Amino acid sequence: MVASKLLDYAQPSLQGTLRIPGDKSVSHRSVMFGAIAKGITTVEGFLQSDDCLSTIDCFKKLGVEISVDGESVRITSDGIDAWNEPSEILYTGNSGTTTRLMLGILAGSSISSVLIGDESIQKRPMKRVTDPLKEMGAKLIGRANAQLTPITVEGAPLKAIQYEMPVASAQVKSAILLAALGAEGETIITEKETSRDHTEKMLQHFGANISVDDKTISLLGGQALKGTHVVVPGDISSAAFFLVAGAIVPHSKLILQNVGLNPTRTGIIDVLHEMGATITIELDSNKSHEEMGTVQVETSNLVGTEIGGDLIPRLIDEIPIIALLATQAKGKTIIRDAEELKVKETNRIDAVVNELKKLGANIIATNDGMVIEGPTALHGGDLHTYGDHRIGMMAAIASLITSSPVTIDNEACIAVSYPNFFDQLSTVVK
Ligand code: S3P
Repeated sequence: MVASKLLDYAQPSLQGTLRIPGDKSVSHRSVMFGAIAKGITTVEGFLQSDDCLSTIDCFKKLGVEISVDGESVRITSDGIDAWNEPSEILYTGNSGTTTRLMLGILAGSSISSVLIGDESIQKRPMKRVTDPLKEMGAKLIGRANAQLTPITVEGAPLKAIQYEMPVASAQVKSAILLAALGAEGETIITEKETSRDHTEKMLQHFGANISVDDKTISLLGGQALKGTHVVVPGDISSAAFFLVAGAIVPHSKLILQNVGLNPTRTGIIDVLHEMGATITIELDSNKSHEEMGTVQVETSNLVGTEIGGDLIPRLIDEIPIIALLATQAKGKTIIRDAEELKVKETNRIDAVVNELKKLGANIIATNDGMVIEGPTALHGGDLHTYGDHRIGMMAAIASLITSSPVTIDNEACIAVSYPNFFDQLSTVVK
């Protein structure tokens, strides 16, 4: 049974300090790299969310020894050649990252496996990954010529490719890089726009030699990874909900600690600055192999802005909450070049526009984004999450400024990326 939730906050202000939980992208990769590497990998700050637990579950089915103790994870592996052929189907849940990166990892292994995900994953495009992998020699069998899951992977020897990415996608880039690690020759990938670079950074952290020259990435196959210690920074995509809440809820001031500040992910901070938000950043040095720090935000007078081009991959997951932000800004906000939103956990252009309209927002969908005119006083309503965690959290933050209560149809989906979202929210609502 999917449980709905009533969100009834009577004109709150937000005050306090939150430690942002681990980054979803980095948590997935810490387990994947730990399983590929030889030796012991210890992870600190791991995000125990539904998506990341799907990744752990897949590797356990492959025989990798993984123990989880809160935010600490320990992975013991003898490398990819020591994995077992799984007797069960590998279930990737709602996780695009698990599904696409596992395809890249398993393609060059010496085992057969079957990957399947939930209803949303079964609709999401896999051709963007399976095409380049097939070019490398991968044997993939699935619906519509392996464009859709379930997909069977018959591990096979792979050859390096030179690949120009048709879409800005870190999942595609990462799947190719993970396949390239065991392939014969040097793989060269060129991006049109830089997508998040957690895979490149983690490859280096696990001892691989990888060269990154602007938008071109080169990786020589046949390199072995060595187990190591990983500190996962907090997820800026989770922090984004509180960054926006702090800026739009009257009389608020929030301090967010442990925020990952990898420059390929900080588009939300650029947008907040551009829109006039009062926001300050203090970097923590040398805590992780990725940048992190503390971000403070206060209630702000906001103005509309234009968001497009190479900023989009740097904030793709934040667009639902940025749309809510824009409803409280003076003037027009235009979001363009964001067609990718249509193939996320749900069609996020339609979902955001439909749901914010229900609250009285002045918002229209365009072919590649949306246009929002503000500021608008929002009222309550019954909102649909489409089973999408980020739509659920956008609705919850919206309810902090609505004149009457909001209900969401599915509270549980939020655990995909932020299981303690409501607990943390309740500590700062005054
Ligand atoms: C992710 C990459 C992004 C992002 C997703 C996580 C990753 O997708 O939307 O939530 O971990 O690599 P793209 O593959 O479209 O960049």
